Amino acid sequence: MSTDSTSNESGPRQSLAAADLHHVYGKGTTEEHHALGGITFSVDQGEFVAIVGPSGCGKTTLLRCLSGLMAPTSGTVTLEGTAVDSVPKDLTLVFQDYRRSLYPWLRVDANVEFPLKHSGIDKPERVERVRQALDDVGLTGHASKYPGQLSGGMQQRVSIARALAYRPHLLLMDEPFASVDAQTRSSLEDVLLDVWQRRNKTVLFVTHDIDESVYLADRVVVLSNAPSHVLAEITIDIPRPRDQIETKATAEFVELRAEVARLIRNAGTRDHPPGEGEA
Ligand SMILES: Nc1ncnc2c1ncn2[C@@H]1O[C@H](COP(=O)(O)OP(=O)(O)OP(=O)(O)O)[C@@H](O)[C@H]1O
Ligand SMILES: [Mg+2]
Repeated sequence: MSTDSTSNESGPRQSLAAADLHHVYGKGTTEEHHALGGITFSVDQGEFVAIVGPSGCGKTTLLRCLSGLMAPTSGTVTLEGTAVDSVPKDLTLVFQDYRRSLYPWLRVDANVEFPLKHSGIDKPERVERVRQALDDVGLTGHASKYPGQLSGGMQQRVSIARALAYRPHLLLMDEPFASVDAQTRSSLEDVLLDVWQRRNKTVLFVTHDIDESVYLADRVVVLSNAPSHVLAEITIDIPRPRDQIETKATAEFVELRAEVARLIRNAGTRDHPPGEGEA
């Protein structure tokens, strides 16, 4: 039996945790940029957490550090209590731009299967995982098409299916729906919520879109301008299942959205890290 330092008898188990993460690009050069200024927060197992913050504040940098793709300048990242120093098996990152993440010369099923081939999973198991992942995102029947034969939203579903086929418990998503139209975006949000609930995933989702963060998440983490730190964590206790029209029309949703927007607007006026001459 393994010991688990993140267990807590009275609450959910912690999945991913960042402690005082700093990241400085080009340290010691004239290009030096302090992107992350001491970020501390955690995500519980099964939770859906959204991260929002001003453009350029370091959201992608944060996801790269959390996923083990890049070492932070200082601070620690742990996944279920174990330090993250390379990409963990139980974690998958979904990027914003599906056009760059899919192989145009491979059919949809081969695109989804591709990463599985390198992880020692046998063919029958790979075929079953691809089938289920495509089914989960509503693409059954499109397996033998090429990405170029699909709409943008369908292509983004393929990249989500590819992440799901890997069967990670934890999905990190960097503005995955930013490059699709509003209608498609709403439908992809609902696909994601459906899969998150049915497959018992933990999701950390970066977005620019305040409505999207409040609609999707259990908790919204708001970042300040660079060097970024956590300005606030807002619990979204709107009941589920949520509905794109009904939920967004509730007073609760409107109030929470305004609260996040106010925080981001104030974050945008900051020009110094916390503790430097603040009242
Ligand atoms: N490889 C790099 N080398 C130097 N600076 C970088 C590098 N990557 C990002 N930066 C800088 O770090 C800052 C944070 O970038 P990052 O991409 O993390 O921001 P972001 O919050 O994801 O932005 P956006 O909202 O536009 O996606 C930016 O000022 C950016 O120019
Ligand atoms: Mg980014």
